[in-house]
Amino acid sequence: MKLWTGRFSKEIAKETNDFNSSISFDQRMYKEDITGSMAHATMLAAQGIISNEDKDQILNGLQEILDDIESGKLEIDPNAEDIHTFVEQTLTERIGDAGKRLHTARSRNDQVAVDIRLTLRNEVEALVPQLTELVEVLCKKAEEYSDAVMPGYTHMQRAQPIVFGHHLLAYAEMLLRDIDRLNDAKARMNYCPLGSGALAGTTYDIDREMTAKLLGFDGVCMNSLDGVSDRDFCVELASALSLVMVHLSRFSEEIILWCSWEFKFIELDDAFSTGSSIMPQKKNPDIAELVRGKSGRVFGDLMTLLTVLKGIPLAYNKDMQEDKEAIFDAIDTVKMCLTAFIPMIDTMTVLKDNMRNAAAKGFINATDCADFLVGKGLPFRDAYKATGELVALCIKTNQTLETLPIEEYKKVCDLFDDGVYTAINLEKCVNDRTCLGGPSPENVKNRAKEIKEIIKK
Ligand code: ARG
Repeated sequence: MKLWTGRFSKEIAKETNDFNSSISFDQRMYKEDITGSMAHATMLAAQGIISNEDKDQILNGLQEILDDIESGKLEIDPNAEDIHTFVEQTLTERIGDAGKRLHTARSRNDQVAVDIRLTLRNEVEALVPQLTELVEVLCKKAEEYSDAVMPGYTHMQRAQPIVFGHHLLAYAEMLLRDIDRLNDAKARMNYCPLGSGALAGTTYDIDREMTAKLLGFDGVCMNSLDGVSDRDFCVELASALSLVMVHLSRFSEEIILWCSWEFKFIELDDAFSTGSSIMPQKKNPDIAELVRGKSGRVFGDLMTLLTVLKGIPLAYNKDMQEDKEAIFDAIDTVKMCLTAFIPMIDTMTVLKDNMRNAAAKGFINATDCADFLVGKGLPFRDAYKATGELVALCIKTNQTLETLPIEEYKKVCDLFDDGVYTAINLEKCVNDRTCLGGPSPENVKNRAKEIKEIIKK
């Protein structure tokens, strides 16, 4: 049965119902739908719009429906039009006339708008701790590898020495911003549309502030048209989730590279790797690859939401039902990715020696060599040029700055002395990079501690 049968003389066609129904994906909002209805009924009674007896029956009935769904006693009907219809009809079947009074001064348009805000608010509240956990793992690893020298790269070319902990904390910074963005999105979505009605509010003397407060909103949506048609919060959330995926995907790309024999900077735990059906030697970073791949889904969800919204006139249009699958998919994908990604990072083995060896081969201390000459009074540009000549000489004669004899240094610039070997020592190079935000082990340890404090709050 439909809620809207009065005006129709025929039953709905099966094709229409199948196409129209959203129950398959909006049933996950059953709890929020019931909570929203409880607040609405409480307010209706407080305002004298329904009797206290009706309210009590409604609240008890809704509570029982909730309990029965959770215990599996009540199955959600897959042929219902949507979760709102299903709950209201079940209520009326169970308590009779009082159930029919629940929808007074309400439309499914403001009802669904409340449900989705409550649902997404809960989803964000569940997601933030997952991100926090990843940040914690990164801090722990960063502290452990605060002095593990590795090459830092630009253009995928070895550039300057850093430590592994610093590299990991770069991702922790990104994730901190992600957490901020999610909380921001949550704050902006936390306004209550209930009372917007179908589009034009209602003539009943409702108390919108009361329902907003009962449901933990920070206020009410101040325009009834906007209240039912705003889905900005879905876009904002999908955008914040897309950035989470950008960060996880970049990180994944590095994990994949680091696992290769060309790098061998890390080894993933067997439990978080996969094998090949034909090549016995293979150990593949499938989790990282899937995370990289799944980022596309989440960006697609964002694009879906933007495209659905851009052409619809005020106020509610059925197009808006398309918001749910997109935003739920984005949420579920990010949750699923984090669930596998966090233990993968937590259990990986860091091959410090391989990192240190890679750092020793690429002239990544050339800037420090030039800085040595600057310390002797040479302008940086001249020091840069002299060091460039030394690097060219090393490449030609198959040497490194560490192994090049001092006589060769002096031939290029007579300001060089034995002190240069200390200056270009990689450990010294990273230890001296103490400027704010730099990769010195001291800095890494301090920042890891700070970040742990930040996420505790
Ligand atoms: N299932 C609908 C949705 O998700 C609920 C709102 C229905 N409102 C309506 N006027 N048909 O958008």
